[in-house]
Amino acid sequence: MRLLTLIGALGIAGGLAAAGFFFGGFFDISTGWEDPAPIAQAIARVRDASIARRATDSPPADFDSAQRVQAGAQVFATLGCANCHGAPGVKWQKFSEGMNPAPPDLKEEGARLSPAQIFWVVGHGIRMTGMPAFGEAASADQLWSLVAFVKKLPAVPDADYTAWTAGAKQ
Ligand code: HEC
Repeated sequence: MRLLTLIGALGIAGGLAAAGFFFGGFFDISTGWEDPAPIAQAIARVRDASIARRATDSPPADFDSAQRVQAGAQVFATLGCANCHGAPGVKWQKFSEGMNPAPPDLKEEGARLSPAQIFWVVGHGIRMTGMPAFGEAASADQLWSLVAFVKKLPAVPDADYTAWTAGAKQ
């Protein structure tokens, strides 16, 4: 019984200390420090599990067609993805280096994620990270083209990206 009382008292003291820390303004809300590794790993696992559970849409039949990849490059340029993630031959904006978490290299993330997962992410965004939802800004068909382009990113030469996006509103 005494042990239970002690555990309860410690729990209450811990809760009060945490409340004081967070509501008292001691938590540093800036982007200027890295999450400790176990916390960063836990957040990444929560993100991956959340996306995996929700990514249930299937790509259209012509998903792999060259037209779709090229149309996707246009969508990529128009929606402003390159500002944060960069693009073949296009450097990201300086502000993106001030983001935490940092926008990842889409050549790597695109290979790690399935088309359905990328489709879900671009449609719905990732809260508390700066990755926006584009479901209001583009149609589902445009987003599938975008996904086709992201999947092909490692194989897209700079010159092709420049040609495909000529005339796109950047
Ligand atoms: C304002 C900056 C910004 C813009 C614009 C932006 N992103 Fe992101 N994006 C991010 C950040 C930050 C992350 C990292 C999220 C994280 O760590 O979980 C991210 C993550 C991603 C991921 C990886 C998700 C995962 O589960 O690992 C994909 C794919 C992605 N973005 C695609 C895009 C595409 C395509 C566009 C354009 C339609 C775009 N992003 C526009 C900031 C941006």
